[in-house]
Amino acid sequence: MYRLATTANRLATFVLAAIMLLSVASQSAAQSIQEMVNKAPNGLALTPPMGWNSWNHFQCDINEKVIRDTADAMVASGMRDAGYQYVVIDDCWHGHRDANGFITADPQRFPSGIKALADYVHSKGLKFGIYSDAGRLTCGGRPASEGHEYQDALTYARWGADYLKYDWCNTGDRNAQEAYAVMADALRASGRPIVFSMCEWGTAKPWLWAKNTGNLWRTTGDISDDFAVKKKGHDWEHPVTMIVDLNEPLWPFAGPGHWNDPDMLEVGNGGMTPDEYRSHFSLWAIMAAPLIAGNDIARMDDTTKSILENKEVIAVDQDALGVQGHRVWKDGDREVWVKPLSGGGRAVLLFNRGEAPASITATADELGWPSGIRAKVRDLWAHKDVGRWNGSILATVEPHGVTMFRVGA
Ligand code: GLA
Repeated sequence: MYRLATTANRLATFVLAAIMLLSVASQSAAQSIQEMVNKAPNGLALTPPMGWNSWNHFQCDINEKVIRDTADAMVASGMRDAGYQYVVIDDCWHGHRDANGFITADPQRFPSGIKALADYVHSKGLKFGIYSDAGRLTCGGRPASEGHEYQDALTYARWGADYLKYDWCNTGDRNAQEAYAVMADALRASGRPIVFSMCEWGTAKPWLWAKNTGNLWRTTGDISDDFAVKKKGHDWEHPVTMIVDLNEPLWPFAGPGHWNDPDMLEVGNGGMTPDEYRSHFSLWAIMAAPLIAGNDIARMDDTTKSILENKEVIAVDQDALGVQGHRVWKDGDREVWVKPLSGGGRAVLLFNRGEAPASITATADELGWPSGIRAKVRDLWAHKDVGRWNGSILATVEPHGVTMFRVGA
């Protein structure tokens, strides 16, 4: 009896275990399908995306001529050849939805339609980007994509879009992770490779979950064209140094195909000095941030051009290793930033937030190097070799300015 009961118990336990195993197996099969559908990287943006976006300069004052002129200027000014690829129309291009729910372009501002505009941009050897929002309305009050995700993704693909910026206004109590996954799936289902730029402002901490959903995610509110103190604007707008401090600690979450986005560039929009714009640009490059120019390219002056087209600084941003550099030393207004590069070299940024010139030193420890290493040092703003690394480097840095070096390979 005892023996039998034990055998029966064993049998029952075995059957139960088998059932449990089967259900775990089918659960994990379901999970892996879910991962494949919803969470596979799309293979795009292996280096931080570079391009231009209409918002920071033109805001809602856009039309097809502005976009065409900008595409022309991207070529004529050398921006395209410096690596800027995507021409992105931000908010306010939209008309209404047609009887079948398909989105149309504003017929006054874009009378030739978006497909013709995308074709024009492509004919210049550039890529084309568009904007929508996960709510009912965009931030500018135009029709957004909630409930129309697959239809909109299909429309963008038919128009030839290569990039979608997807905003977060008027989303009510929508769950961000779910909302962005739906659009990521819709873009995938469209069959066209489309870089997915998530503009959720960092509210739901996308760096923790969006690695295989988006190619870049905003980490902060909107940038304002100010260095350290905002002169005007809304409370969701932040000056450059505040954005830097919010984006810097997130460096472990960035990598090829998935980047922290501290917002688009303000270089050339007039609110900062040339030194401050050089700092802004260098900080974005050392943070492996997307480099999306936000000025009027057709009318930019030589100083702006020399900043945006500094190929040595751009090369730091675009380095194939894809590590976001970060701050390794700080004393008051003086900071040292380091970004490891492919080939073992380092980009080194000496940053002076203060109002007077400051002398700043970077050491081997801060570079993560043994002290005995000898290497070439190149100044990326002076465009010249400045000697050999011998365990440290010292420079006097202008107020609100930077000195940026490449050390080694
Ligand atoms: C939000 C975004 C901005 C811009 C505007 C457009 O504020 O963060 O980058 O796209 O909307 O309305």
